[in-house]
Amino acid sequence: MTQKTENTVWHAHLVTKQERAQLKNQKPCLLWYTGLSGSGKSTVANAVDDILFQRQSHTYLLDGDNVRHGLNGDLGFSDEDRIENIRRISQVGKLFVDSGLICSTAFISPFQSDRNMARDMLEQGEFIEVYIDTPIEICEQRDPKGLYKMARAGEIKDFTGIDSTYDIPVNPEIHVKTADQSIEQCALQIVNYLTENGYITK
Ligand code: ADX
Repeated sequence: MTQKTENTVWHAHLVTKQERAQLKNQKPCLLWYTGLSGSGKSTVANAVDDILFQRQSHTYLLDGDNVRHGLNGDLGFSDEDRIENIRRISQVGKLFVDSGLICSTAFISPFQSDRNMARDMLEQGEFIEVYIDTPIEICEQRDPKGLYKMARAGEIKDFTGIDSTYDIPVNPEIHVKTADQSIEQCALQIVNYLTENGYITK
């Protein structure tokens, strides 16, 4: 990105991230869901968010399809636009973590380099890569939005997994296989990770 902003000075906040987190009684983090379209990112992320909310954790969920209606409404699905999509989401996610929240992002985020960039923007332990691993055949069978069918018919170009790349996560903190488990089991796997690693209390 070209930096166009000049003559601005960073202001340190009086209230720190640690103080915000302490008040909320949790360790803020960015749960970064990645996976193919139709893999179940939004479904699992919503299920986790619901469990966390019931447990009185302070959370927020940024979802690809929704964010593309507003903040990123000017972006399409070329490699360049996807990179910009993820850059903006990383920045927003970082702000949410700074505010003390457990923030979830559910975007295909197909490029490992972009997921690494998001990781590098945060402090050690704040970025949790969650690979929603669903074979493309199953995503295509589910085809909840009818997009695979359109992509196969050549009506959508640059569709992830068909004519656009998806880099399989190299070393995700959490590896969820949705084909073998129920949504509840997938969600619990993630909530257990958060408990075991001290992001939330038992
Ligand atoms: S990302 O690749 O830039 O991370 P993002 O998660 O924001 O993608 O948006 C993906 C959603 O957009 C998909 O779930 C699907 O509903 C829709 N979509 C529309 N066109 C495409 C496309 N060419 N490739 C992938 N998803 C698409």
